[in-house]
Amino acid sequence: MGDRQEIDGGQKALWNGLAGRGWVDMQALTDRMYEPLGDLLVDAVVAVSRGAVLDVGCGTGRTTVAVARRLGVGSRCTGVDISEPMIAAARARVERDGTPAQFIRADAQDYGFEPASVDTVMSRFGVMFFEDPVRAFANLRRAGTSGAALRSIVWRGMPENAFMTTAERAAAPLLPNLLPRRPDGPGQFAFANNRRVRGILEESGWNDIEVRPIDVECAFPETDLVAYLTRLGPVGLILQEADERTRARVLDAVRPAFEPFVHGADVRFTAACWMVEARGSR
Ligand SMILES: C[S@@+](CC[C@H](N)C(=O)[O-])C[C@H]1O[C@@H](n2cnc3c(N)ncnc32)[C@H](O)[C@@H]1O
Repeated sequence: MGDRQEIDGGQKALWNGLAGRGWVDMQALTDRMYEPLGDLLVDAVVAVSRGAVLDVGCGTGRTTVAVARRLGVGSRCTGVDISEPMIAAARARVERDGTPAQFIRADAQDYGFEPASVDTVMSRFGVMFFEDPVRAFANLRRAGTSGAALRSIVWRGMPENAFMTTAERAAAPLLPNLLPRRPDGPGQFAFANNRRVRGILEESGWNDIEVRPIDVECAFPETDLVAYLTRLGPVGLILQEADERTRARVLDAVRPAFEPFVHGADVRFTAACWMVEARGSR
């Protein structure tokens, strides 16, 4: 997930290219595996929102739609994402099911959101990819009304999330172009350090900041494991473009490394995350 910015020319290129396409193709799988985290986030948003919500880095729109359904008629839920293919998939989702949510394709760091237009800013795994997180969170704060709420789920560190790094540890000897993750991002683990998260939010003008650990059980069918490995994450990104021989060799090395997470027909892992809460200035 999003750690090849050095060779791909930035997050925008990455999410409009291989990473975005991988997420669109794997939409059903990510919907399912991250559903418990989505439920937790949507509950937290519904508890504070009066009906105007901005979902940042909304991807294919699963959480935007879930919140719009819960808040019901009269609510205004908008998803924003930098990725054209992800936003196209989000729009197709609401066309299919008739949920009144809207989507904007834009960089949330500097898009000119209507000032004071939302009472809650939410995100599931969509805020760790900013090149300039302070500028981004200041921009999001200005989109919020006085005292607007922020509710966001982000990953804690790599050691606590072994599932997420198993593929690259097993594949590293075979993939010389697999770059090491950069701990302060942009990337999946850019918000692993809770003091850094707090500092970013303070500097961008958010108050009443709480960064609370949550450990959430996630699962998906074992029959989807190979698709997951070959389409998502840093190894999946490389394998999307690799020749058949390389794919086969890497899969032979990586698939057995996931055995500890396979329980009968399911793959199970614990997502070690932070629930980030804050309030915009009044
Ligand atoms: C890991 S995906 C999460 C998608 C979705 N929130 C979910 O939980 O299914 C991260 C998302 O953040 C988006 N993103 C990255 N940088 C962004 C930016 N500067 N502005 C808006 N979206 C961004 C990516 O395009 C991608 O859809």
